[in-house]
Amino acid sequence: MTATDAPAARLPEAAARSAWRGSILHFLADPGANDAPASFEFWEDGLLVVAAGRIEALGAAERLLPGLVAETIVHDLRDHLIVPGFVDTHTHFVQTDVVASPGRQLLDWLQDYTFPEEKKFADAAHAAEVAEFYLDELLRNGTTTALVMGSVHRTAVDVFFEAAAARNLRMVAGKMMMDRNCPAELADTAESAYRDTAALIERWSGHQRLHVAITPRFAITSSPAQLEAAGQLARRYPDVHIQTHLAENTAEIAWVRQLFPERASYLDVYEHYGLVRERAVFGHCIHLETGERRRMQAAGAAVAFCPTSNLFLGSGLYDLAASDAVGLHSSIATDIGGGTHFGMLPTLGAAYNVTQMSRNYLSPLRAFYLATLGGARALGLDGQIGNFAPGKEADFVVLDPAATPLLARRSVRARSLAERLFPFMVFGDDRAIFQTVVMGEVRHRRAAPAPD
Ligand code: GUN
Ligand code: ZN
Repeated sequence: MTATDAPAARLPEAAARSAWRGSILHFLADPGANDAPASFEFWEDGLLVVAAGRIEALGAAERLLPGLVAETIVHDLRDHLIVPGFVDTHTHFVQTDVVASPGRQLLDWLQDYTFPEEKKFADAAHAAEVAEFYLDELLRNGTTTALVMGSVHRTAVDVFFEAAAARNLRMVAGKMMMDRNCPAELADTAESAYRDTAALIERWSGHQRLHVAITPRFAITSSPAQLEAAGQLARRYPDVHIQTHLAENTAEIAWVRQLFPERASYLDVYEHYGLVRERAVFGHCIHLETGERRRMQAAGAAVAFCPTSNLFLGSGLYDLAASDAVGLHSSIATDIGGGTHFGMLPTLGAAYNVTQMSRNYLSPLRAFYLATLGGARALGLDGQIGNFAPGKEADFVVLDPAATPLLARRSVRARSLAERLFPFMVFGDDRAIFQTVVMGEVRHRRAAPAPD
C-alpha cells in the first residue's frame, strides 16, 4: 500500500510495520571540521523500515523494497529528506511566553520578564496549557527530544511529563532549584528542592521514555546548602541528568565571583559540589578558559551552545573551535525563551553565523550532526536515539526542500549534499518540517497550503 498522506498507522504498536521512502541522511560519528566521509550515510533514494516503533532496516530503496513484509505501509516521500529527530539540549518550557521579550541583557531580562512569567507556573492548569502548546511547537519544528528546564514548582514538571508521555516522547526535564536572589514566591529551599527532585525521579525516571534532570538554575540563585543538596542528589542518582547555566554573561560571572570568593572560578563552584560529570549539560559556556574546557571534557560533561539566545541577550559568541580543540562535547540548543526560535533549523543558521564571527566554520553536515546524534550523545541517549542504527527508536523528521518558493529555488540549484542542507539552515523554519514521526507514528503533519 502506498500512503503519502495516510493517517498515522493505528495498528497495535507491536504489529505495525511501515517503510519510509525518500532521501535519507544520518550520522555515525562527528564529521569534524572536514566532513569525514565515514561519519555519515546518505541514500538519494533510501528506505527506512520501522517495526514496533524501532528501526528495523535502512538502505537503498531498490535493495530493500522487494523484501518488504506484506502489509507494510510504504510512505512515498521521494523529493523529501528524512533525518533523525532533532535534539534540543537546553530549553525552558516555562519561558514559552517570554520569547521575544525585549529584555536587554541576561540579568535585567530575568528580573523584568522571566521571573514574573515563571510565577504563573504555581498554577498547574496554566502549566498544563503551556506544556501542551510547547510540546506541539517542538513537534512542528521537528524536535523529538529535549533537555527541558521547568519552574521551581514540582507540579509544573509533573504536568509537563504527563504531556510528554501522552505524545510518547523521549524527554528529559527537571524542577528548577532556586533558593536565593529571586522573588520570594519563586524560592524553594535546599530541603524542599531535594525532596521534590527526588520525588520526580522516583515517579518519572524510566516511565515510558522519560528522564529527570537535577536542575539548579545557576550558581547565583542557589545557596551553598542548595548546591550541596544538588550534589547529594547527583551521588544518590548517578545515572540522572544534570542541567544548569555556566559562563553566559560577564555581569553574571562577576556576581558568582562575589558570591563564592573561595572558589577559583564559576566552573569550580559546580565542580566543588560534584555537578560536573557525564550527562551534565551546561548551557552557554561562552566565557571559559582552556583549562576549564579541559576539565569539563575530562569529566565527560557537555556544552549546550545556544546561538539565538546568545545573540538576542548580547551574551557573546560561543567558541566552538576552542571546545573542539580539547575534545569538549558541544551540542546545539534553542534556549527558549532567551532564544528566539523553537526550531533547530533557524538555530543551526544562527550557529553558523556565530562561528563565522569567530572566523571558524560550521559545515552544514556537522550542523546536522550536532542537531541529531551530537545532541543524543550530549544526553547519553545515543543508545536509543540520534541516528537510524537498527534497533533504535524511530524518531525522525521529513524535511520538504520545496516548502517555500525560495527554498525550492535554492534547493534545485544545490550541487552537493552540503549545499542541499545549507538552505534549510539559512532560511528553513517550521514550514520546512513536512512530518515529525515519533516511534514510527506521525505526530505532526504540516497543514496543506491554502489553495491559490
Ligand atoms: N541563567 C539563569 N537563568 C537563566 C535563564 O532562564 N535563561 C538564560 N538564558 N540564562 C539563565
Ligand atoms: Zn537557559
